[in-house]
Amino acid sequence: MQSFNFKLPTEIIFGRHAEDRVAEKLREYGASRIFIVYGGGSVVRSGLLSRIECQLTSNGLAFQVLGGVQPNPRVALVREGIRAAISFKANFILAVGGGSVIDSAKAIAHGTANPGTDIWDFWSGRAELKKTMPFGSVLTLAAAGSETSDSAVLTNEDTMRKVGLSSPLNRPVLAFMNPELTYTVPKKQLVCGIADILMHTLERYFSCDKEENAFTDRVAESLIKTVMEASHVAVKNQQDYDAMSEIMWCGSVSHSDFTGLGRRKDFSVHKLGHELSARFDATHGASLTALWGSWAKYVYKDDIARFAKFAERVFGITDGTDEERARLGIEMMVTYFQNLGLPTSLPELLDTKLNDSELYSLADLATNGDKKKLGTFHPLTRKDVLAIYKLANVK
Ligand code: NZQ
Ligand code: ZN
Repeated sequence: MQSFNFKLPTEIIFGRHAEDRVAEKLREYGASRIFIVYGGGSVVRSGLLSRIECQLTSNGLAFQVLGGVQPNPRVALVREGIRAAISFKANFILAVGGGSVIDSAKAIAHGTANPGTDIWDFWSGRAELKKTMPFGSVLTLAAAGSETSDSAVLTNEDTMRKVGLSSPLNRPVLAFMNPELTYTVPKKQLVCGIADILMHTLERYFSCDKEENAFTDRVAESLIKTVMEASHVAVKNQQDYDAMSEIMWCGSVSHSDFTGLGRRKDFSVHKLGHELSARFDATHGASLTALWGSWAKYVYKDDIARFAKFAERVFGITDGTDEERARLGIEMMVTYFQNLGLPTSLPELLDTKLNDSELYSLADLATNGDKKKLGTFHPLTRKDVLAIYKLANVK
């Protein structure tokens, strides 16, 4: 097992009516001026936002609201939020929504605490994030895991770059998680969220480290199996509280780092997916399933035993050679995504095949002109990335 540092400072309030404790908990954290961030309106339509507003008002807490966060959240709205939060003198940023809203809230918190720095400078690496202010979320979609994660992903619409920032300062202080709030999520977002949760564990499970890491492996395998089982129930009945609870809790655990402690992460499929989201506004989870099978087929020979172990532990495949089990495990994972109705190729994701120059341009951007290798399992050069995009570019 590799050495690690793990600090999860997020207090999680989980279960029915969790959001009814927003005011009580915000007071406990010394919040008095709350800047609320939300998305395209689902929380207005469901009445969640007005319930939270009433709660804050009746508890004497001042608030201001900013809506309009889009999926693949844009930096322009974040800049607007920073200006508004500063002039409101906010001392807590509260996201009400999914990963895009939470990531925007994280960025607004960082920008408000660092008024002299353009927010994108932290994402582009031009500035180092050294301080922030408290923020948290009322989660309405189980997917990105941003409610506990140390990362936040923004899109710069001027440069068409989608970039993640990892920092301990990205860990929220509070997360309110009521699975009932996810009952209204559109089916497409539900399955994309399920895929993202699985991918956060897969991208940790397949890394270059060969040392034994038995407990973490079992945590990861168990999370994957739990999400798969719950997903079969949830897609038939999205109001199944138990299934939606498992998915929601696994979403937070999956990207908290707990499923990968003692092992380096890979996350190359995420980076390839971000290029597709930046260029085509592809939904995050779908961008990952469109690529994972091609990535796995391209790299599995680097560690056939690891893929064989995955096939055995997750899908119960015990017959055949390591190579046969490894290949079957990949096929079964791809079939699982297909059965959820998710794309497993670029033409399925984008409704069109990409031409060679488009694929090259994506590979070039992903690797910063072949100056950067992606992931750890098989550190990907531009040539590797291009080969994976090409593999995925067939129906
Ligand atoms: O905007 P509204 O109207 O709220 O609608 C949203 C949005 O259209 C809708 N939705 C959310 N909860 C709902 C609901 N509709 C009805 N009822 C509800 N209860 O779902 C749509 C998608 O929302 P979004 O927040 O974009 O989805 P998700 O949570 O999947 O977040 C995706 C973003 O997170 C990033 C992704 O790259 C993407 O930009 N990620 C963030 C990570 C992190 N911070 O740690 C890690 C992930 O790997 C990921 O990269
Ligand atoms: Zn993800």
